[in-house]
Amino acid sequence: MKIAIAADHGGFQLKENFKKYYEKQGIDLIDLGTTDETSVDYPDYAAKMAEAIKSGQATLGILICGTGIGISIAANRYHGIRAALLYSDDVARLAHEHNNANVVVFGGRTMTESECFRRMDIFLQAKFEGGRHERRLEKIEQGC
Ligand code: RB5
Repeated sequence: MKIAIAADHGGFQLKENFKKYYEKQGIDLIDLGTTDETSVDYPDYAAKMAEAIKSGQATLGILICGTGIGISIAANRYHGIRAALLYSDDVARLAHEHNNANVVVFGGRTMTESECFRRMDIFLQAKFEGGRHERRLEKIEQGC
């Protein structure tokens, strides 16, 4: 699995800590920026992530902004992107089992680092259940 990560300034520090967390497990995350805490616009990082997923450069994305909300809204504007804000442990599991999220989202200013790492582990251990959930995802992809 190739995992890409991107954040705005509100998520920069958590992004760096995620990279270290995975480095210790022998996994290098593909870093799409930002590169420091200078103020930037989160839609630009959602766009970079959408491109990375659509091109196949990454199979899973991690996006972070201050709350996780703005960057979720932006990412979900792209066809083929299913971005889920992992605001609880249960949601982390369900986002994979039911929604087959290909981008997981965190709030750098609203969640603790240990919550985020734990929810990432839960998400990765879960499996998409398919069936009725597949049908629902197809309806989303057909658009409105
Ligand atoms: C940036 O100040 C902040 O608005 C952004 O990180 C995010 O929380 C938006 O939803």
